[in-house]
Amino acid sequence: EKGGYDYFMLKEIAEQPKAVADTLLGRIDASGSLTLDEVRISPRVLREVDKVVVVACGTAFHAGLIAKYAIEHWTRIPCEVELASEFRYRDPILDAQTLVIAISQSGETMDTLMALRHAREQGARVLAVCNTNGSTIPRESDAVLYTHAGPEVAVASTKAFLTQLVACYLVALYLGQVRGTKWGDEIQAVVRDLSRISYEVERVLATMEPVRALARSLAAKNTVLFLGRHVGYPVALEGALKLKELAYMHAEGFAAGELKHGPIALIEEDLPVVVVVPSPKGRSVLHDKIVSNIQEIRARGARTVVIAEEGDEAVVPYADHLIRIPATPVLLQPLVATVPLQVFACELATARGNEVDQPRNLAKSVTVE
Ligand code: M6R
Repeated sequence: EKGGYDYFMLKEIAEQPKAVADTLLGRIDASGSLTLDEVRISPRVLREVDKVVVVACGTAFHAGLIAKYAIEHWTRIPCEVELASEFRYRDPILDAQTLVIAISQSGETMDTLMALRHAREQGARVLAVCNTNGSTIPRESDAVLYTHAGPEVAVASTKAFLTQLVACYLVALYLGQVRGTKWGDEIQAVVRDLSRISYEVERVLATMEPVRALARSLAAKNTVLFLGRHVGYPVALEGALKLKELAYMHAEGFAAGELKHGPIALIEEDLPVVVVVPSPKGRSVLHDKIVSNIQEIRARGARTVVIAEEGDEAVVPYADHLIRIPATPVLLQPLVATVPLQVFACELATARGNEVDQPRNLAKSVTVE
């Protein structure tokens, strides 16, 4: 069943290029337009949407945080992202013009289900992004966009996360398309690169041996910090979550811009800090700021693990360990930047003798509140 791998998680990490390709299959045509037939919310309704609210838990919540950048940038519709467990307890403002996107691999997460029920009671439309055919969340939603990751067995979500990102990008682009957002060069390039992104995921997977070696060398550490900015910030949160649940290590993700507002006090000699570096192109301001963050933490003794695009030479002098990822459009970077973090957490768990597929205290789907 594990197809020759020691763990389902390793198999599922390796399946990511296919999962991504399958989730795109038949949804982008040769001319670059999107057909999301299953999204049975009429274009008229979608044109009237004035707010998007994403609700989800855990890894799916991180996918939602990334979706916000894409939705707001490509459609100019305001987007909020909220933990499903917090959402309905704060009396959220919802009406018929609100589109709620409920993201869930299992389709059975109780908090997400309760959040979408609450949203529908207030008249909002709910679109589920889900990996499990016929599960409760899509059944109770107005529409569903299925991720085609195939069954995910390991408790730690990997391939489902990448496909949730793909689905969210598709929803954002589709909203732009039906609402007549100007399809400029940028969006055209994104659609083109998205349809080829599974090859880039494959390329990252082929270069993971040094990441494994690094993970093994850190097995005795107690803490790892993760920093990122823009879409790299949710990637940092996801890297930290993977490490908590698999390696049982203290791991935290921070927005790099927050360093000086507190977290920098945590930096001490030889503390591993993983930094997700934004693309040097197009976002040079953020890129330069993160490079100075890396300098700052390194000057205070941190052991820097830098995830940066191929060709980004500015980071080289400050990286104790450098992990290369392919260049992608800014918003798509999480699809490649997350992969080394999954491999890192999986290898650390193994090195620490932990049960990879079934971490202590966790269930694959949380069907209680
Ligand atoms: O099935 P769901 O996507 O609704 O599950 C949400 C979370 O429970 C899930 O992502 C959890 O955080 C994973 N174990 C993370 O790896």
